[in-house]
Amino acid sequence: MTDKINIGTLISGGGTNLQAIIDACLENSIDANIVFTGSDNPGVKGLERAQKAGIDTFVVDYSNIVKSCKKNGIKDRDLPEDFNLEEILSKQKLFASGASPEQTAFFLQSRAIAEKQLLDKILSYDMDLLVLAGFMRVLTPYFIDRVNTEPKCYKIMNIHPALLPSFPGTDGYGDTFAYGCKIGGCTVHYIDYGEDTGPIIGQKAFEIKDSDTLDDIKKKGLEKEWELYPQCIQQFAESL
Ligand code: GAR
Repeated sequence: MTDKINIGTLISGGGTNLQAIIDACLENSIDANIVFTGSDNPGVKGLERAQKAGIDTFVVDYSNIVKSCKKNGIKDRDLPEDFNLEEILSKQKLFASGASPEQTAFFLQSRAIAEKQLLDKILSYDMDLLVLAGFMRVLTPYFIDRVNTEPKCYKIMNIHPALLPSFPGTDGYGDTFAYGCKIGGCTVHYIDYGEDTGPIIGQKAFEIKDSDTLDDIKKKGLEKEWELYPQCIQQFAESL
């Protein structure tokens, strides 16, 4: 039997994927323990789900942090001591070369302030894998490099509501529906420096009928997500 791995989880909302992972851990259908659930959003249902399962929780309120950066500006002393904008700019693949340098710098700096707070929480746990379960914030190289500390060893997994590389971004099922696709799906992949571009671990597809509404697609998709995510976590556990 595989030893149990410790996973950390990050969420932004309802946490139905988190629930599927909690259930899989409790039923021993995956060899994993959840050591924490963090959210960028206070008061969400996913935090309740974690607390009910006896999991440590914390919140890093991204909206407040970004609002305060916009209101007060960002000074050098606000940034993490080990933050180097030139280095992050050279690694990041979130913004194309034509993007406004000011907006790009503001985005990367304000996210690094939030990410430092996340890291301060996360890195105090003994964690083999970080699982993004409906976490709706992109992670910058500042954060990624401090979790992926071994070369070529991915430690951050994400679930995306579309069959990547189609429909990256924040509304995978909405984009699938709007395009008129006859097949939809979900993807579990590792996080790299781009948005939804990292190596694919697993995918599941479902048929879309002409009569299906967006809600039907979301329902079919989530049911596939709840099967797929625990399977991919187990695959990771067995690979160690
Ligand atoms: C899921 O559909 C997940 O694929 C999506 O958010 C939803 C979260 O639902 N994630 C993304 O779009 C990530 N970019 P949940 O909170 O009920 O698990």
